[in-house]
This record gives sequence, C-alpha cells and structure tokens, in this order.
Amino acid sequence: MRPDNDTFLKALLRQKCDYTPIWLMRQAGRYLSEYNATRAKAGSFMKLAQSPDLACEVTLQPVERFKLDAAILFSDILTIPDAMGLGLSFVAGEGPKFAKPVRSEEDVKVLHVPDIDQSLRYVTDAVRTIRKALHNRIPLIGFSGSPFTLACYMVEGGSSKDYRNLKTMMYTRPELLHRLLDVNAESVTAYLNAQIESGAQAVQIFDTWGGTLSEPSFKEFSLRYIEKIISGLHKTFDGEPVPVIVFTKGADQWLELIAHCGAQAVGLDWTSNLARARSRVADCVALQGNLDPMVLFGSEERIREEARRVIDDYGVVGHGGHVFNLGHGINQFTPPEAVEILVDEVHRYSRDFHR
Ligand code: CP3
Repeated sequence: MRPDNDTFLKALLRQKCDYTPIWLMRQAGRYLSEYNATRAKAGSFMKLAQSPDLACEVTLQPVERFKLDAAILFSDILTIPDAMGLGLSFVAGEGPKFAKPVRSEEDVKVLHVPDIDQSLRYVTDAVRTIRKALHNRIPLIGFSGSPFTLACYMVEGGSSKDYRNLKTMMYTRPELLHRLLDVNAESVTAYLNAQIESGAQAVQIFDTWGGTLSEPSFKEFSLRYIEKIISGLHKTFDGEPVPVIVFTKGADQWLELIAHCGAQAVGLDWTSNLARARSRVADCVALQGNLDPMVLFGSEERIREEARRVIDDYGVVGHGGHVFNLGHGINQFTPPEAVEILVDEVHRYSRDFHR
C-alpha cells in the first residue's frame, strides 16, 4: 500500500508531484540531542543498532521534528561485515574498527554470505517495527553499502586516507578482491531483499568510496557489482515498485555509466551541477541531491538562498524527478534549527516547479 505522503516515491519514479520531496542522508544522528540520549541509554552504537525498538525510536526522531518526506532505517552499512564475523566496534572519535581485517588469501577464503535470518535478524525486525510505528505516513528507505565500499572497510580494518591495503590487493591480487566483492554482492542482494520483504519501500546503495578509483577500476571493481545487485533485487513488492537509489560520492564524471546501472535514481554530491547532470541523464533516472551539508552552518538567509539555487538548477520538473538531499551525510555539529529552515524552504519554493 502506498504511504499517505508518497511524494518521495513518485519523485523517484519520475511521476508528477506537488512539490520536491526532501530527506537527509544521516538524518538520524548525533546532531540531535534526543539521538544522543537514546544512544546513551543503549550503551553503544552497536547496541543501539541491534535493538529494534531503540533503532525504531531514533529512526522516528528526525521525522517527528521535521516535515521530512521519507524515513531511513537506522542501522549501518558495516552490519554485513560484522555478520561475516569480522568483529565490528566503534571507538569514540576514531570511527569503525574491525578486529579481523581481510588481508590474506586465507582471510578471503573463509568469508561467506551471512544467514540474514540469523545474524541480521535485528535489521529486518527493526524494519518491521519502524513500518508499524510510521502508520504509513511516509515511506521507509532501506540501505546497504556497495560491495566496493564495504571491501574498503573490510580490507583496511577501518577508515583510511589512502586505501593502501585495499589498493595493494587490487593491484597485486585482483582475483582475491573479485572473490571478496562477489561474496559482498551476494550478501548485499540477500540483505536488501530481506529489507524489502520486511517493509522497506525504496533502497539506497551507498558507494561512498567508489569515487577514489580510476574510471576502468570503478567499472571493474565497483559499478559491475552494483549492477549485479540491482539485477537480483525485487523489482516490486506487495504490488508496488521498489525504487533503487545509487549514491557514489565524487562520481560526476561517470554519471552516464551510473545512470544505466538499473537504478531508478542517482544521488549526487555538491560538486555536481544539477542542470548539467539532468541534461545528461534525466531521460532515464531521477536525481537526488545535492546541497553542500556545510550550508547548514550558514545564516538563515544563506540556507534559503542555497536551497533555492539547487531547486533552480534542477529546473521545472515536468517529466523529471528530483529528490532534495544533502550531497553527503549531515555533519554532527549541525544546528537542528538549520534543518527546519531547509525543509521549509524546499517545500515552499519548489511548488512552482511542479505545475
Ligand atoms: O541516514 C541515517 O540516518 C541512517 C543511518 C546511517 C548510519 N550510517 C548511522 C550511523 C546510515 C545510512 C549510515 C551509512 C554509513 N555508515 C556509510 C555510508 C554513508 C556515508 O556517510 O558515506 C558509511 C561510510 C558508514 C560507516 C560508518 N558508520 C562510519 C565511517 C562511522 C563513524 C564515523 C561517523 O561519521 O561518525 C559510522 C558510525 C555511525 N553510523 C553513526 C551513525 C549515526 C555515528 C556513530 C555514533 O552514534 O557514535
């Protein structure tokens, strides 16, 4: 059943809308005091993500505060490698850490697709709990990392500035990396399908680090696996289409390639020009983005001006499809009032672009 407010789904499917819908990457997070309170109650980020009730609570927090047009499952892209047994923890101020990074042939050999019903049951339980709590008001987005972005964290064992270990594997043992990416792609396909079967009404694939590759490597090690995933996803569920959004940070130069990967929408970071992007690919995909998250540290007038500029750049929507978003996740120090101003301006100003 379509949600009461289905503007977001219609925009992804390039159907007529009354206004431009908006949601924000990382909309549930540390910039909200109520998130920090729930996280403290949970004890750690992983305990928060693994409790369906608490994950539901933080998913709803931004949706209660702001008039957002979609909710996104509260979880993390690194749940899959954790379920593969790599031992994920989040060290305050340092980001994610894996106890057992994947470096050797032996490490790759022992990797297998996790049993989603067993080890990732907390995620599908959270999806079901959130859908109930949303009462069909707005759609729920499910998500996963891309096989390549997951591999970056799995091989490095955490965040990295230069992906030296990953790229060493890529340039010395490409067949090993392909084996790892194959396991990841199969896992992501099963994981996203399980989220869809539990109630996710659209899914986003975060390819955060695909943009660190050369063009041939991007095609071979990232895009190819994203295509494979999309071809294996449920196209519809409960009689409704389930649109797919692919977000590759820093990939404007490969926009045409990404637009043909089978996704209904492509997410863009703030370095893209939406008007030019649209003229390149709007005949086949909707576009999502692309405000610089740091605009939210500007004055109220600047925030409103920049929001209008993004909407002006996309232009009169007509048969296009535009979902307003930030060009990457919201910064943890963002003043929440700035989000309220942004949502207000996008909803107010965009109406004239949908006549
Ligand atoms: O968008 C949402 O509100 C849904 C929740 C969500 C989280 N992570 C919660 C989270 C989503 C969609 C993600 C995706 C994610 N996780 C990505 C891809 C998107 C992107 O930002 O590029 C990546 C690369 C990760 C991996 C990850 N998780 C890192 C590097 C970190 C630590 C660094 C940081 O930004 O804090 C996390 C932890 C994390 N995931 C937090 C949240 C709210 C903060 C942790 C905390 O509460 O202590």
